[in-house]
Amino acid sequence: MKILMVCLGNICRSPLAEGIMKQKIKQNGIEADVDSAGTAAYHVGEMPDPRSVQVAKKNGIDITYQRARKFVNTDFDRFDKIFAMDTSNYNDLIDKAATDDDKNKIMMILEKTNPGQYKSVPDPYYGGADGFDKVFTMLDNACEIIVKEMLNHEK
Ligand code: 4NP
Repeated sequence: MKILMVCLGNICRSPLAEGIMKQKIKQNGIEADVDSAGTAAYHVGEMPDPRSVQVAKKNGIDITYQRARKFVNTDFDRFDKIFAMDTSNYNDLIDKAATDDDKNKIMMILEKTNPGQYKSVPDPYYGGADGFDKVFTMLDNACEIIVKEMLNHEK
């Protein structure tokens, strides 16, 4: 299974989603590739936001190795599942998708915790550190469900 986490800048939310997911697949001995990308290029090549680095570290996850990159259309070929953090990322990805197969790979990540609600992971960039704690919890809960589903499929 190859999973891509997508937000706007690839410095706040999707790096956390990548770090959380990688930790969970490792803890559960699952074979999977996880990466993240942004729909915008503002921060390409940068490390994750220090507030994301901090909240990840507090939860035992190192995300300092990550560097921001922009989503590219070939990601549709490289990945099986593409998780969007918010509705804007979701709509951008749907617009880029060339086939129904590509479209079917895209899902709002919080559909895992709040099915049918199209709930967004709030963009914490302009807020304080507590926003990052909330984002971490939302993503941790969603990734936990994704991992459980992967384990069930292995059975
Ligand atoms: P992210 O957060 O999409 O979770 O990485 C943002 C990062 C940067 C900007 C917006 C959101 N920005 O406008 O530069």
